[in-house]
Order: sequence, then structure tokens, then C-alpha cells
Amino acid sequence: NNYALIMAGGIGSRFWPVSRTAHPKQFIDFFGIGKTLIQSTYERFLNTCPPENIFIVTNEIYVDLIKEQLPAMQDNQILAEPMMRNTAPCIAYGAMKITALNPEAVIIVAPSDHTIAYPNAFVKAIEQCLEAAATNDALLTLGIKPSRPDTGYGYIQYTEDSLPDDEQIHKVKLFTEKPNRELAQTFLDSGDFLWNAGIFIWSAKAINAAFQQHLPEMHDIFKQGATAYNTEQERAFIGDAYLQCTNISIDFAIMEKAENVYVLPADFGWSDLGTWSSIYEMAEKDYVGNAVIPSEQVMMFDSSNCMVNVPKDKLVILQGLHNYIVVESNNTLMICPRDEEQNVKQVVKDVKANF
Ligand code: GDD
Ligand code: MG
Repeated sequence: NNYALIMAGGIGSRFWPVSRTAHPKQFIDFFGIGKTLIQSTYERFLNTCPPENIFIVTNEIYVDLIKEQLPAMQDNQILAEPMMRNTAPCIAYGAMKITALNPEAVIIVAPSDHTIAYPNAFVKAIEQCLEAAATNDALLTLGIKPSRPDTGYGYIQYTEDSLPDDEQIHKVKLFTEKPNRELAQTFLDSGDFLWNAGIFIWSAKAINAAFQQHLPEMHDIFKQGATAYNTEQERAFIGDAYLQCTNISIDFAIMEKAENVYVLPADFGWSDLGTWSSIYEMAEKDYVGNAVIPSEQVMMFDSSNCMVNVPKDKLVILQGLHNYIVVESNNTLMICPRDEEQNVKQVVKDVKANF
């Protein structure tokens, strides 16, 4: 009864120019390991789900990329969205599809743009949650010990209370999505908050009930499509359904509101690849702190703590450069101090408006 629903419709604008609307970060091999993020995500779930139970929800413009990168996926496992509406409709669609196939399903919902350093520990945590979610009306999430007051995450405050059959899975008292800097600092200082890893485990029944309670309009929209459609009928239905959906994330729409949220604190070397700095932190570095991916043609002199990501055939020479990001893709070169990369999102907007 185990299913996985991989969300792969985001754009990842902070990774520009490598990640662009036409080729977002989940389809990129950031570490030069011969596997893109979505391929690694898919592989991790082969440990806990039969391959035919793995579904991907993505924008229709990425369907061909997915087929190319995951040739084992059948057409009916790739759920195409006609427009971006954030993660609530994406999950409603996936839950509709999976419920129609198996009302007893237990579903892992996961982003496609994370790295996990210890896959064995990850699989263990997932198995533990799958077991708990099968027998409890609970919305489970994985919680990561926070290390900085990052405002890009959901924060979870948990209590001593736990599930009757698993004392490691704690009842959540407060779920706050993307707090401001001040609040994030308070959460960090208090010591009993975790980051939401964005990986959820719940039964089809529990998530459908949560939609019915907290997003009844969206629940009704997708309920009408709750038969095992073939791809053509489904496309027509979904095209219509998405026009009616509000643009909202599952975190704001459901996780902040639901009473039956539980968290398993876990440590599996999780990293949300949200920024070039997070890639830099994960990447192998030389003795002066340069991370060069791929490395063959890059020559560095008196340069340190730089993150270089350029096409394989590009000859690059750095002289006297410290703490910089140097990335090239699609014939676009970006050079930016590592501590100013948060500004890239705005820069991309301006560039898009002008070129
Ligand atoms: N199919 C589809 N459609 N996928 C989407 C859409 C959409 O409209 N929007 C986003 N996604 C995918 C992204 O590609 C990503 O894999 C995942 O859903 C999560 O979306 P993000 O946009 O990356 O969310 P976030 O990082 O701001 O916040 C979430 O993740 C954090 C951890 O990384 C939240 O769950 C936070 O609470 C959490 O801390
Ligand atoms: Mg994210």
C-alpha cells in the first residue's frame, strides 16, 4: 500500500542561470555525480515503494524532461499540471489519483530538490512513518534540527506527547511556515523547534479528510475527478480543475491549521538546495575551500572559498578571487559574491523583464 508522490513543479530561481524556467533545479546534476536531483529522489523511493507506485506531479512543460531522465516512469505516473498553483493543488491532484487506485494507500509526499547524505537513515525514518501513518489518522512530517534562523522553512514546535504506538513520533503544537527573521530567531533560541523537511507521510484517508476540513473548495474540485481516469480524460478534467484552484502551499493551507500533525525528529544529512551556498556547503572542496563542479578545465590561482559551476568544456581561470560564486550555463555567465546571492532572485526578475 506504499506510494510516493514527488513534487517537481518548482522553478528554483535562485540558481539562475543554471536553473531556468525551461530547466529547473530538480533536473540538474549539481554535484557532477551523473545523477540529477530528481533521479536521486526517485531512486531513494525505490527502497520503500514498488516502482509502479511512484508518481510525479509536475508542470506539463517538464513532462518530456521527466521521461528523458526517468525512462522507467509510465505515462500515467506523470501527472501534468496546466499551470503553477503551488503545492496544495499539486498534492490534491496526486491524492485524488492515488486514492482512486487504492483507497488504503499510504503516501509519502516529497520535494524533488533536496539532497540526503545518509540514504539508509532516511529509508529507516520513512519506513517508521509509513507504519505509523497506516494505522493512525495523523499527518506526519520529518523534522530537522535547525542550525540558523532561516526564513525559508516551516518551523515545528513539538510536545512530549506521542503516537500511542510510536513514542518517537511527537504531537505538533505549532507549525509556522516561513516566519520573519525575528520570529525565526526566537524559535531557534527556544530549542524545541524543528525545521519542516517538507517530506510528508499520511494515509490517503487522512489527507483527504484534512483537505475536506481545511480546504473544502479544493477538496470538492478534485473529488469530482476521483475515478481512475486515463490520461486524456484526466487532462481535460485537470485543465478545468486548476483554473478554479487557489494558489497556496500545503504548509499554509493545511499543516499550519490541522490538529493531527505529528513529527518524527530525524537526522539523515538533509539539505534543502535552496541556494548556491547550500550547494557549496555540500560539495567537496579543495584545501583552500574552493568547490569546483565539474573540475577538469578550471584553473585557480591565489583564489579561495569560491564556488565554480561551469560547462565541462569551458576553460576558466580565476586569479585572486575569494568567496565568489562563478556559474555559467545557457551561454550566460554570473559572477557574484557568495554572501550576496540572495539578491539573485531580484536580479533574475529584472533580467527577464529586460532581455
Ligand atoms: N508540481 C508542483 N507544482 N510542484 C511544485 C509546485 C507546483 O506548483 N510548487 C512547488 N513545487 C515543488 C518544488 O519543486 C519543490 O520540490 C517542492 O514542491 C516544495 O516547494 P518549494 O517551493 O521548494 O517550497 P519551499 O522550499 O518554499 O518550502 C517547503 O519546503 C521547506 C523545506 O525545503 C515547505 O514545506 C517548508 O515548510 C519546508 O521547510
Ligand atoms: Mg524548496
